[in-house]
Amino acid sequence: MSTIQDSPTAADSGASASKSFKASLAERGAAAISAERVAAVVTAVLRGIHEAVSEYQVTYPEYQAAKAWMIEVGETGEWPLFLDVFVEHVVEEVASRTQHGTKGTIEGPYYLPAQARLGARASLPRRPSEKGTPLIFTGQVRDIDGTPLAGAEVDTWQADADGYYSGFAPHVPEGNLRGVVVTGQDGRFEIDTIQPAPYQIPHDGPTGKLIEAAGWHPWRPAHLHLMIRAKRHRTITTQLYFTDGEWLDSDIAQATKPELILNPKTDSDSVARAEYDFQLEPA
Ligand code: DHB
Ligand code: FE
Repeated sequence: MSTIQDSPTAADSGASASKSFKASLAERGAAAISAERVAAVVTAVLRGIHEAVSEYQVTYPEYQAAKAWMIEVGETGEWPLFLDVFVEHVVEEVASRTQHGTKGTIEGPYYLPAQARLGARASLPRRPSEKGTPLIFTGQVRDIDGTPLAGAEVDTWQADADGYYSGFAPHVPEGNLRGVVVTGQDGRFEIDTIQPAPYQIPHDGPTGKLIEAAGWHPWRPAHLHLMIRAKRHRTITTQLYFTDGEWLDSDIAQATKPELILNPKTDSDSVARAEYDFQLEPA
């Protein structure tokens, strides 16, 4: 029996993240990887583990604790959370070596495809009671040669003012604070939303327990997620952070970059306004 919960748990986000990842694999296309490459990479990963065991003289009780923890990560569906926090930033760094234009960063576990398609001046779907400082985020999508890209998709998703993502926390309505904003003839967009809150890795699951056991903190700085798509251009997956935001210098997911920081200005109407332009390279 399932009950409606007020307070989302790690199991909610883990299970939903695993489910949506598996559903997305069909579209992303699983790569065919050669035996040589599997052997080379897995040998290197295992070498790292063997060296740590040897260097720290890992004991049987510690080995059993690690095994129990990994079983729990699988059972709770938390592998997407764990991997996107601790590993994805390096995969992104490798990919970014051949990418020009706007910097990318990690996608994280909470992207959902096929959200509401909105015009160039858009208001992200939200609850009538949505908390948070209003934020108006404007900008332009251009080619790297500076040509404005009309009809580009600014696919955005973000946490609410309590740090929860729709689709991954049962109390947040589907599609909340998500949308695909389509740029106008001049490549411009204007998105009316709220300022997201910092995000805390759920602490009641195995990823959170590991973070606590290691004495680390579980926070990511407040961020907007974006996937920018335009015909015949390479898609950019990125995030934008906020200047002076808490945890900017100690993001648990190590996914901040100095080029990805917004500097919102708040007028007397207490609406924060921020601007950012995206540049996409040809595909
Ligand atoms: C995780 C959550 C995020 O919102 C994000 O941007 C990156 C990682 C996570 O819980 O793994
Ligand atoms: Fe996020």
